[in-house]
Amino acid sequence: MTSTPNYFKQESKDHYRTAVNHYLSPKRKDSVKTKWENPFSLKVIANAIKKLEEKYSPKSLQVMDFGCGIGEGFVLAQNALKYLDILQTKELFYLGLDNSSEMVKVAKQKWENNKNLNFQEADIRLGIPDNPTEIYLSCGVPYSHLTEAETQDVLGHIFRAIKKNKTQSLIVIDVLGRYSIEWVSQWEHSRWAYRMSFLAEAQEQEDMMMSCHYAHDLKSMVVQASKQENCQIQDIEFFDRSVMVGRHTSTREYNSAIPPYREIINSLYESGHTTNFRELLFQSPSAQAPSPVKEFFESFSRIWNQVVIEAAEFCGENLNIPNNNIPLPESVTGLKNELSNLQESYCEHNFRTDIVEPTLAEYLHRLESTMQPGLGVGHTLIGIVYVDGTQ
Ligand SMILES: C[S@@+](CC[C@H](N)C(=O)[O-])C[C@H]1O[C@@H](n2cnc3c(N)ncnc32)[C@H](O)[C@@H]1O
Repeated sequence: MTSTPNYFKQESKDHYRTAVNHYLSPKRKDSVKTKWENPFSLKVIANAIKKLEEKYSPKSLQVMDFGCGIGEGFVLAQNALKYLDILQTKELFYLGLDNSSEMVKVAKQKWENNKNLNFQEADIRLGIPDNPTEIYLSCGVPYSHLTEAETQDVLGHIFRAIKKNKTQSLIVIDVLGRYSIEWVSQWEHSRWAYRMSFLAEAQEQEDMMMSCHYAHDLKSMVVQASKQENCQIQDIEFFDRSVMVGRHTSTREYNSAIPPYREIINSLYESGHTTNFRELLFQSPSAQAPSPVKEFFESFSRIWNQVVIEAAEFCGENLNIPNNNIPLPESVTGLKNELSNLQESYCEHNFRTDIVEPTLAEYLHRLESTMQPGLGVGHTLIGIVYVDGTQ
């Protein structure tokens, strides 16, 4: 590239100027983040890389991370290679793009000793570098900052680059789910004024227009962009992350009717702290939504509540809602049996807080990650697009 490409142009407002402290803060890493969210994202990305590897196994992988912040996407990609046991055999090159000058400044400082990482201040709406790339990554919902038309444009740029370079590539599209229980009051809108009031500097955060996506609509956008560029999609998958525990379940800013689920789940992991099981019960939202969303929440809430009831019953508590003894999915059957077995070998006095509660949390996590339908019913909807640019 000879002249400076236009994606280096700066946006006038840097919404993430103060948010950078949140990304550096250890407080961000609560139990939900480390035990639920990170392992879920890791498996989704590792699985996608594994599928790419099965078809095509290059010596090195080039990752381009959109809205990279301080480079969390690099850690995710590196952990995925570790998880697949290919970190030693595969060299990872990473280019992070972000239009927040503060984020890019901090990212450059943080990774200055690693020559395989580069960061550029760039607005992805204005174009993207078109060098060969196997993984067009995103995490932390950067595409939600964009309007639908802007997202479609960015996808068009990616498909064009894949075709030009004839690569086999993955596109990871990370957005806010439209039908999250965190914002039932906003379900009728696809783009609305969102505030990151869960950040350390909540009082400094302003409203930003954000797009929330239903998987069906996002898929149509992806397919349309690929057709326009005459680029072949091989497969497309969707995953919901954080159905019950998105950060706005704690602020309850857009749905005050729900209990603060994220805090309650965090407290299940807290040794010596007794959690009120009743607060975990979940009622399917009554707001208008497409029928797959309604059906999911109805069935999910019945199963979620049944697992909670089992833990309460084991502790001799009656939650005063009927135990319908509905058949549970295999991933969450046997909680009472497991607790009985654990009790036999446990000699301390705080079995409830140290064993029952974290075991219940693990069952609920397993339930969320195995039942998530990939519709846009969680805080985050992750789309994985497999593209073959060789044809
Ligand atoms: C919630 S942060 C996520 C950061 C990082 N990916 C992570 O997971 O920690 C979203 C990021 O998207 C960036 N962003 C928003 N709009 C963008 C645009 N048009 N071009 C490039 N980056 C953008 C923001 O500056 C911010 O750093």
